[in-house]
Amino acid sequence: MASMAKVYLVGAGPGDPDLLTRKALRLLEQADVILHDRLVSDGILALASPRARLIDVGKQQGQQEEIQSEIYTWILRLGRSARTIVRLKSGDPMVFGRGGEELEFLARHGIDAEVVPGLSSALAAPALAGIPVTYRGVAASFSVIAGHRQSLTTLDWSVYQGVDTLIILMGVEYRDIIAHTLIEQGRPASQPVAFLENASTSRERVVESTLELVARRQVEVKAPAVMVIGEVVRHRTAVRRAMLQEAVA
Ligand SMILES: C[S@@+](CC[C@H](N)C(=O)[O-])C[C@H]1O[C@@H](n2cnc3c(N)ncnc32)[C@H](O)[C@@H]1O
Repeated sequence: MASMAKVYLVGAGPGDPDLLTRKALRLLEQADVILHDRLVSDGILALASPRARLIDVGKQQGQQEEIQSEIYTWILRLGRSARTIVRLKSGDPMVFGRGGEELEFLARHGIDAEVVPGLSSALAAPALAGIPVTYRGVAASFSVIAGHRQSLTTLDWSVYQGVDTLIILMGVEYRDIIAHTLIEQGRPASQPVAFLENASTSRERVVESTLELVARRQVEVKAPAVMVIGEVVRHRTAVRRAMLQEAVA
């Protein structure tokens, strides 16, 4: 398709508009059309130009494939009339955001595209909660893992045994199975776990627990949340205290 349009795959960060990149903000102000995910906050959408057309292409559980093909149809249709199309995704577009697939689709159809990275919730949520994902002498490695049903059935979780900090996205629903699997693979049942709900928004909530209690489903959590597993969670209180003292000084 010969098209004058350019599609920007833009990362919106975890939710707080102040955590947008300057480039993302500029594109929101210039866009003719914004196709956005469900997790993109109202505060960020409010920054769009008043003349921009906002299209919610958020996916509910179980209808991902249907919506994804709808997104492709929208892009092809809009590519004929709009000049600047922003495909706005929560966090970073290339982290569990199907950014790679969308880029390939755009290339196949001859549509110009550019990626604008965003702050992924995988790293922003722990940082905002005062959890260092690495800590000298405690944790020198981390992995970011999908915790949805498909990865529970297809991933070999034993490969994460030697990784110090595990950061799990989309893991709220199957948190008990994840915790149980990790204990079975040899992680201590007493290892601390933190759930970081709605990071960077006014509904932000941090829940601390242990693998054992999570495996017994004794921990109430609501999506969206980032699950952090590892000894670094114990450093949260000390790091937060230092952050608060610095803010007061
Ligand atoms: C489909 S993935 C998209 C990840 C996104 N591309 C990123 O880089 O953050 C959705 C998952 O990201 C996590 N997530 C996204 N925003 C979040 C937030 N503000 N607070 C907590 N978790 C968040 C949750 O685990 C949620 O289930």
